[in-house]
Formats: sequence, C-alpha cells, structure tokens
Amino acid sequence: MGVDLSLDKEKLESQDNLKNKVGLELPNIQEDIPPRKKLIFSGIQPSGTFTLGNYLGAIINWNKLQDDYNCIYCVVDMHAITVKQEPAKLRQNTLDAYALLLACGIDLERSILFIQSHVKTHAELSWILSCSTQYGELGRMTQFKDKSQKHADDINAGLFTYPILMAADILAYNADLVPVGIDQKQHLELARNVAERFNGRYGKTFTVPDPYIGEVGSKVMSLQEPTTKMSKSDKNANGFVLIIDDKDTIIRKFKRAVTDSESEIVFREGKDGINNLMTIYSAFTGQSFEQIVNDFNGKGYGDFKIAVGEVVADKLFPIREKYLQLVSDKEYLRECYTENAVKALNVSQRVLSKVYRKVGFVS
Ligand code: TYM
Repeated sequence: MGVDLSLDKEKLESQDNLKNKVGLELPNIQEDIPPRKKLIFSGIQPSGTFTLGNYLGAIINWNKLQDDYNCIYCVVDMHAITVKQEPAKLRQNTLDAYALLLACGIDLERSILFIQSHVKTHAELSWILSCSTQYGELGRMTQFKDKSQKHADDINAGLFTYPILMAADILAYNADLVPVGIDQKQHLELARNVAERFNGRYGKTFTVPDPYIGEVGSKVMSLQEPTTKMSKSDKNANGFVLIIDDKDTIIRKFKRAVTDSESEIVFREGKDGINNLMTIYSAFTGQSFEQIVNDFNGKGYGDFKIAVGEVVADKLFPIREKYLQLVSDKEYLRECYTENAVKALNVSQRVLSKVYRKVGFVS
C-alpha cells in the first residue's frame, strides 16, 4: 500500500540528533526527501446505499484525490447510531457501504479504507476533544437542529456531540484536507475551531484541516423538491437517485423530475429544477453550462431529462456491476477492512499518544 505517512520534519530532526551523537558530517538527506504529500480524510455514513448527492458531493472527489494525496477514508458506523438503527441492518449496510466505495474506485493500493468502529482511537480522541468544545457551539449546528426535529422522540446526547466525533475522525490523522459536500461545512468549521483551541491550550498538536468542496455537485438537490438537498431519507423515492439504481429506474426518476413552467434550458435564479439537472449533467459530462445551453437550444425539458438520465445511468452502470460482484465476496471484504483498520490504527495511535502526553496523562 503506497500511503507514505512519514513526516519529513521528523526525519530531519533524527538526522540532526544522529549528527550530534556521532559527531559526523552526514550527507544532507534533505534534498532526497520528496515533499510530504498532503493527507486527505473523509467519512460517509452507512445509511443503506449512497445517493447521487453522496457520489457527486464526496465520493467522486475522494476518487480523484487519490492521484495526488495520501487518502484515508472511513465508513462511519459510529455516527450512524446517533439515530435509531436496526442492528442487523446496520451491519449489512456497513458492509454494503464498504463494498460500494471499493466499486466506486477507492483503491486500497493507494488509500486506506476502514470501518470507524474498528479503530478505537476515534472514540478516545472524541472524549478529549469534547473537553475543548463549547456547549454553545454544538447548539448552533444546523444539522443537530434539523435532526432533532426529525427524530423528536430520541434527541440523544450522541446526536448533540456528533460533530466532536467527526472532528476526532479528522484530527486523529492530522488531515490537511477534507472532501465533503456543502452540508458538512459547518461541522468542518467546528473541527477547525476545536483544533485551534486545543493547539492554543496545549501547544501545536493538530493540523487545522481545510474543507475541499468541489465546484460542481457540492449540493445536489432533490429531483422532486429542488430547493431541498437530495437525501435518502426523503419520503418520496423519486426525489433521489441511488448509485445502484438500474437504468430504467434512473431514467424514470429523471423523467419525473420537477422543473418549472418555462421551456428554456438555462441556468438561472428561480429555475431550481433545471439548475439541478444542468449541474448533474455537467458533473458527469464535464461540459460547461454554456455548452449545455448551446447543445440543447430549441429542445424541450423532456429531451433534456432523458439525456441527463442516460448519461447518469451509463456512468453508474460499471459501479453497479462491480458492486454486485464485490458485495457477495464476504471473505475478500473481511480481509480488506481488517487489514485497513490496522493501518488506520497505526497512524491515529501516534497522534493520540501525543495528545495524551500533551494533556498530562501518565504514560
Ligand atoms: P453523510 O454520510 O451524510 O454524507 C457523505 C458525504 O456526502 C455528501 N452529501 C452530499 N453532497 C452533495 N449533495 C448532496 N445532496 C449530498 N448529500 C450528502 C456529504 O456532504 C458528505 O461529504 N458527518 C458526515 C460523515 C463524516 C465525515 C467525517 C465526513 C463523519 N466523519 C469526517 C468528513 C470527515 C456525514 O454524515 O456525511
């Protein structure tokens, strides 16, 4: 596995120590050390299969970033239990999510992909960070407000402290960049604040992470209610497209997409449905909005909806095939997630040990 997690600074410091000890002039290794690749971390909840929103907002970028960065990705099953879960279903959803991420192109030769509950450092760091997080800042989280309305019968403490666990996920690896959709931006700002507060109190410990939000697709909207985010919890199944939907289902959902009473295919304020379809089309084809406007000049919404559906279905088809093949190979999946949990633990344990020292725990 090619993830290089060595710290250049540490190598250089140990070179200096050696020099002092043996009194020798060592060759300067500084020139031989390639600049450290930045580290990417991101996570996704195993809430059944993923939507087109998850795919365009996050996974497509996770995939691309593997070329230039050290990437660590995680199926966040511990986050999932902040809302009620049926245990057998959660177990299945977690394995499905793992297989689906592999099918989407997460490459274990270049990246680490693990299941959150397998790596104990996340929960341990979360506790420490909770002592550097203010009650008031958690109360401002819009996702907490939304979710506590949706799950009014179970506003548990985990739902409230969820962003701390998310901060722990990221900070446990000293991630530089976090690819997410826009809906996670506020949580990321909290992670940055917590890191800065901890660093201010105990001395530089954590890298303050930056969000990585793609230009197109960072907020894919519901096909039925294009002013709200596409989400699998939508009661109307025509509002979201799943990555593993078959071609007929995808085209049917796009054909039924809500648009407006005009007929012009153009990206403009107030045309939420068309704007969303143009965004999806652009994300899959790489075409600019201008090109799309030219190509569909004189054509109706009906033609455009079918074109979007076809492009999406064709691009997702190989993922679906790969997923169906992987998900039945339980032994292979077990091997992958077990090995990757060990790798993730090794990296995050180093950071956690430093944190324990900094806060004054006896080692
Ligand atoms: P989750 O599981 O809700 O979503 C996973 C990723 O998909 C993005 N996303 C979308 N992007 C565009 N349009 C949409 N309609 C859409 N719906 C979802 C989300 O922004 C996210 O990037 N708390 C996180 C999971 C998490 C995490 C982390 C992320 C836990 N720890 C550490 C980053 C780093 C969540 O619930 O995402």
